[in-house]
Amino acid sequence: MNNNMLKTYKVIGDIRSQVNKADTIEDALKASLRIITSECGVQYAVVWYFNELDKLLHPYYWLAPTDFTSRTHAPKDGDIGKCFSTGESVRRLQYKKGQDVFTDMALVGVNIGAMLCIPLSVDDKAVGVLQMISTGEINAETADVCEILALMMAMDIAEAPQFQKAAENPETVMKVRGVKRSFLRGTVTSQVLKGVNLDVYDGEFLVLLGESGCGKSTLLNILGGMDEADEGFVEFMGKDITHASDEEMTMFRRKNIGFIFQSYNLMPNLTARQNLDLIGELVDDPMDADEVLDMVGLLSRANSYPSQLSGGQQQRISIARALIKKPKLIFADEPTAALDYTTSIEVLKVLEKIIHTGTTMVMVTHNEEITRMADRVVRMRNGQVYEVTVNRHPVHAEELVW
Ligand SMILES: Nc1ncnc2c1ncn2[C@@H]1O[C@H](COP(=O)(O)OP(=O)(O)OP(=O)(O)O)[C@@H](O)[C@H]1O
Ligand SMILES: [Mg+2]
Repeated sequence: MNNNMLKTYKVIGDIRSQVNKADTIEDALKASLRIITSECGVQYAVVWYFNELDKLLHPYYWLAPTDFTSRTHAPKDGDIGKCFSTGESVRRLQYKKGQDVFTDMALVGVNIGAMLCIPLSVDDKAVGVLQMISTGEINAETADVCEILALMMAMDIAEAPQFQKAAENPETVMKVRGVKRSFLRGTVTSQVLKGVNLDVYDGEFLVLLGESGCGKSTLLNILGGMDEADEGFVEFMGKDITHASDEEMTMFRRKNIGFIFQSYNLMPNLTARQNLDLIGELVDDPMDADEVLDMVGLLSRANSYPSQLSGGQQQRISIARALIKKPKLIFADEPTAALDYTTSIEVLKVLEKIIHTGTTMVMVTHNEEITRMADRVVRMRNGQVYEVTVNRHPVHAEELVW
């Protein structure tokens, strides 16, 4: 038996004894990964689990000088045990410096030399990935040790409570696939949405970020039934609304969708309560106007006209107007962009209250700080979604500072 093999057995033995001692799965993982990172020349390790529902890899545990809590990523070739392009099974994948797979890891803040990804499989079903990162190289012995560790930990990961929690069915309210949209400007067609894929889950607060002009409002308008996709489809509660008639679309918007805009769009010649009644009359079972006004903290201003209200107050009325219909979904496009910090927080507190009543909300913002309030953060770039992150611990509006 050569030295390398002896070392491999020793490391495996150490890991097994640590795993036997551990009380919890996390302790076992921590101990195992610590042994590997101290013995085998890899510095960082991340254990990901694959969520069947959003088809994303979620970080389960990591040893790295950065917080992975809210990082998720779409599995790439091999990440979950199959090579997507060829369909072949993958035992392990090793990347070397120079290959274009380290973008995610750049946030670790180190110069990465090599990366090893090993699918975690139980009964041929991929449940996650063990990712090892080295600032130098990863030799074959280390890769073998990691592969054995992956075999040992796959079962634990499959049974981990966090994994099972994520496997609870969040109901998808809206499903967006391959949505494209172009506009004709003069004689030039510009493609604004280039194939957007997105799910909106029941009761969640989803924040959508992206540079100016990347297509956020265009997407929101399509989701809200105010505009139509050229290609792809949008489903609302399992029903394809892409090809609905104008009349069906109007009914869909009226019944299910509340919109909040940056500019409040209130009727200037109507009082706050009249602005609400106008919308309440459109639906069968509206909320009571006074109740909604109370909810946004403006019952005492029911008889004021928009011009008699501050910007923040007008925005709260426009939130009340979206709410009075009891919509399934609220879309808010930069609702605080025109407001100062204190007023923005007031408005966000009202939105938070609404989210806690179970209303699903999608909000577009430029303000990175607001993402801390979200359940999920979706980032768009150049007409596509490129990153979705999950916040396990969203903060309250009043904790935000900018
Ligand atoms: N109806 C339209 N006709 C022509 N061009 C449009 C139309 N709507 C949007 N666009 C163009 O599509 C691009 C994306 O616009 P969109 O409003 O979706 O961006 P955005 O991400 O919301 O930007 P911002 O953060 O500035 O609000 C822009 O270049 C815009 O000029
Ligand atoms: Mg916009």
